[in-house]
Amino acid sequence: MAWLFLKVLLVGVSFLGCLYPLVDFCFNGETRAPKPNFVIILADDMGWGDLGANWAETKDTANLDQMAAEGMRFVDFHAAASTCSPSRAALLTGRLGLRNGVTHNFAVTSVGGLPLNETTLAEVLQQAGYVTGMIGKWHLGHHSSYHPNFRGFDYYFGIPYSHDMGCTDSPGYDLPPCPACPRGEGPSRSPDRDCYTDVALPLYENLRIVEQPVNLSGLAHRYAEKATQFIQRASASGRPFLLYVGLAHMHVPLTRTQLSADPQGRAPYAAGLREMDGLVGQIKDGADRTAKGNTFLWFTGDNGPWAQKCELAGSVGPFTGSWQVPRGGSPAKQTTWEGGHRVPAVAYWPGRVPGNVTSAALLSVLDIFPTVVALAGASLPRGRHFDGLDASDVLFGGSQTGHRVLFHPNSGAAGEYGALQTVRLERYKAFYVTGGARACDGSVGPARSHEPPLIFNLEDDVTEAVPLDTGSAEYQRVLPQVREVLANVLHDIAGDNVSRADYTQDPAAAPCCDPHQTACRCQTASQPMFPGAGA
Ligand SMILES: *[C@@H]1O[C@H](CO)[C@@H](O)[C@H](O)[C@H]1NC(C)=O
Ligand SMILES: *[C@@H]1O[C@H](CO)[C@@H](O)[C@H](O)[C@H]1NC(C)=O
Ligand SMILES: *[C@@H]1O[C@H](CO)[C@@H](O)[C@H](O)[C@H]1NC(C)=O
Ligand SMILES: *[C@@H]1O[C@H](CO)[C@@H](O)[C@H](O)[C@H]1NC(C)=O
Repeated sequence: MAWLFLKVLLVGVSFLGCLYPLVDFCFNGETRAPKPNFVIILADDMGWGDLGANWAETKDTANLDQMAAEGMRFVDFHAAASTCSPSRAALLTGRLGLRNGVTHNFAVTSVGGLPLNETTLAEVLQQAGYVTGMIGKWHLGHHSSYHPNFRGFDYYFGIPYSHDMGCTDSPGYDLPPCPACPRGEGPSRSPDRDCYTDVALPLYENLRIVEQPVNLSGLAHRYAEKATQFIQRASASGRPFLLYVGLAHMHVPLTRTQLSADPQGRAPYAAGLREMDGLVGQIKDGADRTAKGNTFLWFTGDNGPWAQKCELAGSVGPFTGSWQVPRGGSPAKQTTWEGGHRVPAVAYWPGRVPGNVTSAALLSVLDIFPTVVALAGASLPRGRHFDGLDASDVLFGGSQTGHRVLFHPNSGAAGEYGALQTVRLERYKAFYVTGGARACDGSVGPARSHEPPLIFNLEDDVTEAVPLDTGSAEYQRVLPQVREVLANVLHDIAGDNVSRADYTQDPAAAPCCDPHQTACRCQTASQPMFPGAGA
């Protein structure tokens, strides 16, 4: 318990104005140009085609489209994995799962999380004098010191994992509701019973569960409110801030209030997209009102649409993974087809990032870490290698040079978790293993190995329909380059300091507000935003 107390104390102390940031801000801060603020918004399961600015069929993202018109839109931007936990771990560490240890999702009962000797973006910025906040879905471990408050975030408000990992009273589409079973009764979620004994979905504020189950209907509104408050209070403190928002949208379940709120009575997915877009607009307005010109807002997604959810899944746009489709399964979330990891991305920073620009530079969520660290004037953590690059020249300098090479790890659809089975090299993409995730029709596309690899030319074939003929000069020219970059990265990883995540499970690790209640049901008062800071 002593360590917990100490850490709580430290979390508190860092808010006592000029105590913790004394050296950096109070003495030096005034003589330097102010450090920029960062707002990073990560959508969940949003398809590339779900951004209207990307895909004309989508008409539900007016705020994001406006942000793209006022900023830079990236059309060849990739999540670092095709599923939730690895994608988020890569964002916060700038490293692929083979290095940071997070190769698949954590569970409600997971004991571990993002390995503690990985350094998060928030930890680096905290050290550089930033106030740091996280709002929304974490999914990098919630038990003991894996909680966001111990991973560099001064403030946390949100849910510890996906909102289909536990019941709620207002579940919306595609989630069982959770009227609690009378005590001692079970089994949980059995089809002939209409009650639920598992742990309900909790809502945290800092270390405390403030509501269990969380009321999903009001969640978007509360996120907007907390984000705006955080921005205001952090600005008022005189220190720069980092706010990382992990949206619940567009992951199922989609809440039912979205529908009633939609005047045109649109389908649930489109209504959800509008709700998400409204939330992003509110956060952007909050940042503009408080700190316009000094706040860099970066919006992107964690992976492609969850096709298995049928009409409750988003759009891959043109990235249809056509080679895979007749072989079964979906070529979206959990796969290394473009639909799995090519995500919407918009950078907005009035006065710094030019407006109304579309960039075709090959970039990745992995780049957020080194870019933000550089802009904050901080240094990368030592003793490890990074997969991302500092994208400042693309953002500010009009450069189109992003990565020459990206690696897309397996995220569940084919073979070993985290393995680098797919290589992007300039306009080419090579698959050593293919596979399809569970599709709407229930089919899966079994893993298939390819040696030599299938190679697609994405410039001519965005749908990944027809691989290059292995006898062609083009294939013969590209193949040795693919082999070389893959061998290089594997060699580099073998010589790097890599971490290993603890994926063991223990029912006692499930977050539970009140163990005496079935489903751990409880409700407690909200906490002050910055504990220890007084009002
Ligand atoms: C959930 O929140 C919505 C919207 O804020 C509200 O109308 C509803 O009464 C709440 N439900 C519960 C069970 O508290
Ligand atoms: C944005 O750019 C497009 C094409 O480059 C142009 O047609 C449009 O007028 C521009 N919009 C604004 C608001 O500048
Ligand atoms: C790994 O960590 C050790 C000890 O901190 C350090 O000396 C070494 O340089 C690191 N290796 C790499 C590849 O950074
Ligand atoms: C994390 O700790 C393990 C075990 O001590 C070590 O092997 C590894 O190199 C560390 N990772 C980093 C990034 O330092």
